[in-house]
Parts: sequence; C-alpha cells; structure tokens
Amino acid sequence: MNPIATAPSHSISAGMLPRVAVLATGGTIAGSAPDAAQTAGYQAGVVGVDALLAAVPALASVASIHAEQVASIDSKDLDLALWHALAARIDALAARDDIDGIVVTHGTDTLEETAYLLHLVVKTAKPVVLTAAMRPASALSADGPLNLLGAVTVASAHAAHGQGVLVVFNNRIHCARDIAKTSTYAVDAFQSHEVGALGWVQDGRVEFQRTIVRPHTAATPFSAGSAWPVVEIVSSYAGVSRIAIDALVAAGVRGIVVAGTGNGSLHAAVQVALAEAVQHGVAVVRASRVGSGHVMHNGAAPDDALGFVSAGSLNPYKARVLLMLALAAGMTERAVLQLAFDTY
Ligand code: SIN
Repeated sequence: MNPIATAPSHSISAGMLPRVAVLATGGTIAGSAPDAAQTAGYQAGVVGVDALLAAVPALASVASIHAEQVASIDSKDLDLALWHALAARIDALAARDDIDGIVVTHGTDTLEETAYLLHLVVKTAKPVVLTAAMRPASALSADGPLNLLGAVTVASAHAAHGQGVLVVFNNRIHCARDIAKTSTYAVDAFQSHEVGALGWVQDGRVEFQRTIVRPHTAATPFSAGSAWPVVEIVSSYAGVSRIAIDALVAAGVRGIVVAGTGNGSLHAAVQVALAEAVQHGVAVVRASRVGSGHVMHNGAAPDDALGFVSAGSLNPYKARVLLMLALAAGMTERAVLQLAFDTY
C-alpha cells in the first residue's frame, strides 16, 4: 500500500529544528528500581523530566525541547484535576508560535483514557503525542528512551498535523481513540484492535498509512473548561448482583457505563437495575468487557426500550470518558448521547 502521508521529522521550520514541549507526568517511563534486572518491583514517576531527556542524546538533532514536569505520579492514581490541568497546559502551549508540537510522557495504566480525553478536548491541529514505557528507566533494555525519541520525532513531523492526539509506542503511531493496553508486562503492550496502527516511526522517518475519519480536537463540542459529572463503571458477570448499581444511583451519579459480556449483553439482575437507573435520570451506556469488536445498538439488549446507549467500539474506560464529556456539554437526551457515541 502506498503511504498516504510521509515526511522526515525536520520538516516544520526550514533551517531550524522544530520546537517540541515535553510534558512529564510520571509513570514507568519515569520509574526506578534498585536493580537493573527488576522490571516489576519499582517505583513509578520518580525520575524527573530532565533526566528522561538526558538519557536520549539523539533528541538534540530532532527538536529543540522545552520541558515541564506537570506531575510525578503512577497513572493508576490519576484524577480529574490532572486531566483539567494537562489539557489546559497543552492548549496554552499549542497556542504559542514558538511551539510546533507537544509530547506527554505518561504511565501506561491509564494512558488510553488520557489520550482519548485529550483527543476530544484539546483545541489544536499541532501534533500532540503521548508515550510511555513498560520497563522502568533503570531497567536493562528500558523501552522509554526509544519511545520518547519516537514521540518527539512524530511531534516534530508535518505529517502529524491535524491527526488528533496520537500515541507512539514501540515504533508504532496509534490514534488515541483506538489504542488500548493489552498486556500486563510485554514491551509491545499497546494495540489498536480491529483497525491497527496509523503508521510508524523509525530512525527519524515518520510514515502514516491512513488517516482517521471521526471528528476530534477542534471539531468536537467538548472542552476541559467545564466541570465533569460523576460517571462510574460497573460490570456484568456470572452471579453479579444489583448492589453496586443501586449504590451508585443512591449516590447521585450522572452516568453509568456497564462492561457487559460479549456484545454488551447483561445479566438479568443488572439489566433490570440499569433500566431503573434510567428512570431515575441516570445515563446508561452499554459497552463490552471483551476488549475488541463493537457493541451493536439494540443487539444483545433492547436499548431503545430500556433507555440505554450503546458504546459502539469504545471500551468501557473510553466510553466513560465520552459519557462524562457529553453530559458536561449538556447532552442528556438519550438520542443525542447515542449520536455522540456514533460520532466521536
Ligand atoms: C503507571 O501507569 O504509571 C505505571 C505503570 C506503567 O507506566 O507502565
């Protein structure tokens, strides 16, 4: 197949290096263990951004770097305040004439959620690229340095403009909407099931094989400026009860995403409890716990009759991000929510 867009990394400003902001948030890419042979027992988010950059001397010939330490966390502890702050910082940097692209270093555990959220809320056509690592910075064969080099290379590339938020991992370029972590330990932990990667980066070369069709960034009505309502996730499984759903409704949540079995099918107890939640004004989105494929509207459950929205190809964690943003944007009617899930 012919590539649809290809560009060397140094193509933005003839005669000078592209200027890339690197925003560090922590994660295993910034992790350290006492022993180089340890790849599981380490502390995430302890190596500062300057040390991360110093470990990759090749960056000096790719971009002029502006570095900021936005947070130093294990991404399992990420909260909505950091999402607000990160999105606001990206928008502010992207508005500057002296910044050509932005890289965010992140933990792998919630990377897919942050990437999709940013894909929907930041308002720039400049490249925004997330990267991470499966092995701590102190490990033998740490993957962080090469992932960081790849991410900065993509953020420097003209071909990455207007492609929404991207994730660069293990030489591949993925769309934020498609990617998910699929292994607890493998270096090639991220996959874009069903659709595959958008392209690849290697040795300074960036090549896209396709573009994405769904609207993103400036083409969405979503923003990081609004307050986000509480949306939680429940699951359906053998022997499940309705206890968690009833507790969430009593707590006043605005939305519930259910990770159903198979094509988003629901245990009878869960289906009844969620239908009642809808009657209490809670938005209910039906996703699947399977990990790939999509949830058909009116497929495994009568969505129209029960007032449910189907998540399509979004996994439960990404469906929760979209439901939160859509409710914050005033989309409360079920048909409007379904349109949002069909669109974004
Ligand atoms: C984290 O998500 O912050 C820790 C795990 C990782 O980055 O792989």
